[in-house]
Amino acid sequence: MRMVDIIVNKREGLANTQKEIEFAIDGYVKGTIPDYQISAWLMAIFFQGMTDEESSYLTKAMLYSGDIIDLSMIDGVKVDKHSTGGVGDKTTLVLGPLVASLGAKLAKLSGRGLGHTGGTLDKMESIDGMSIDIPEDKFIEQVNKINIAVAGQTKKIVPADKLLYALRDVTGSVPSKPLIASSIMSKKLASGADVICLDVKIGDGAFMKTIEDAVDLSKIMVSIGSSFDKKVVAFITDMDQPLGMTIGNRLEVMEAIYTLQGKGPKDLETLCVKIAANMIYLADKAESVEAAEKLCYEQLHNGKALAKFNEFVKAQGGRIPDLDNFIKVEEILPYTAKKEGYIKRIKALNIGLASMKLGGGRETKEDTIDPNVGIILNKKVGEFVKKGDVLCEIYRNKPLADDIIELLDEAFEIVPEHVAIPETIKQIIS
Ligand code: URA
Repeated sequence: MRMVDIIVNKREGLANTQKEIEFAIDGYVKGTIPDYQISAWLMAIFFQGMTDEESSYLTKAMLYSGDIIDLSMIDGVKVDKHSTGGVGDKTTLVLGPLVASLGAKLAKLSGRGLGHTGGTLDKMESIDGMSIDIPEDKFIEQVNKINIAVAGQTKKIVPADKLLYALRDVTGSVPSKPLIASSIMSKKLASGADVICLDVKIGDGAFMKTIEDAVDLSKIMVSIGSSFDKKVVAFITDMDQPLGMTIGNRLEVMEAIYTLQGKGPKDLETLCVKIAANMIYLADKAESVEAAEKLCYEQLHNGKALAKFNEFVKAQGGRIPDLDNFIKVEEILPYTAKKEGYIKRIKALNIGLASMKLGGGRETKEDTIDPNVGIILNKKVGEFVKKGDVLCEIYRNKPLADDIIELLDEAFEIVPEHVAIPETIKQIIS
């Protein structure tokens, strides 16, 4: 087999065979096929697309390039979730303990934040003492004991994805749906769960800009999942504003705790409950999704979901945050509206970048972060504001750079006409 023929087949719009796809991925990981040929193939895929079968073959070839976590020692249905990258997205910290409190097993490998998006691991590590470094046997023991463990992804999971992603990043082929789908699904399948819920964000700063694109991507991922006998549900959700009111690691942990006390913002609570309800139903812990939803709301209000969060924090070495002394900043600065009107959009990308520049995120992988800083929104899309009203508060520990204010100036779009409150979940694909 020759790589050039595989490229030409794809360039001409033919489907690559399973053997061809395996040959390409295998050769690339082993270093026998050079970057330039894989780059050309990726670009041909970008333009010609892939059938569902090809996407599944690609996922499989990537999956078997590294370790697959064996969760067979965990009793019961294992559930997992993945978000395509959001701003203010603290759902794992809420829905993890929530589903665990209802008997589903969440054995999750998470990532760190980069650029404008945050990562669950950084939020967890903002809690004093909490560790994300758990050996595999302890990870499994913890899930069997308390139904939840969240750890960092090892380097041995899907090495092909790291190589391919780096190449896509510098050759303009990141936004290809089959490539995104196989990248996400290979990592999720390597983590070993039976049920996978996907949160596909749409809007500013998200990979998918329109609902049509998000639906297409979701359908590919659901189809890949079923070819591996996994139950996959994709939620297409709004990212035309950050999720909830807080952005920044400790601020987000605080909001997750409020949500677990039944006092969270509506959009965050709705998203967590809907995803959790699907997990609970698919884990055979409720008769229907509606019944599961009711159970989830009960757990948020009867203290059981919060008790499970506390158990989870302690199991991973953390101290339960004392919210009165948790966030330590030099100054909290109000940022006010320059005009009157309805908020049409709060650009998640800008808010995420502003939080990053405050020190709350990483510009490069090597940066260290300040867990205390970030932004609390005072207003959300659809609300009416007067000139001078506080739109958000800036939690800072270092002098405020001018570009942070410029990012906020651009973030809030205020219009004279009435704006409806957007639906958090646009569509569910399963
Ligand atoms: N997230 C991933 O893990 N991979 C992609 O290709 C895009 C988003």
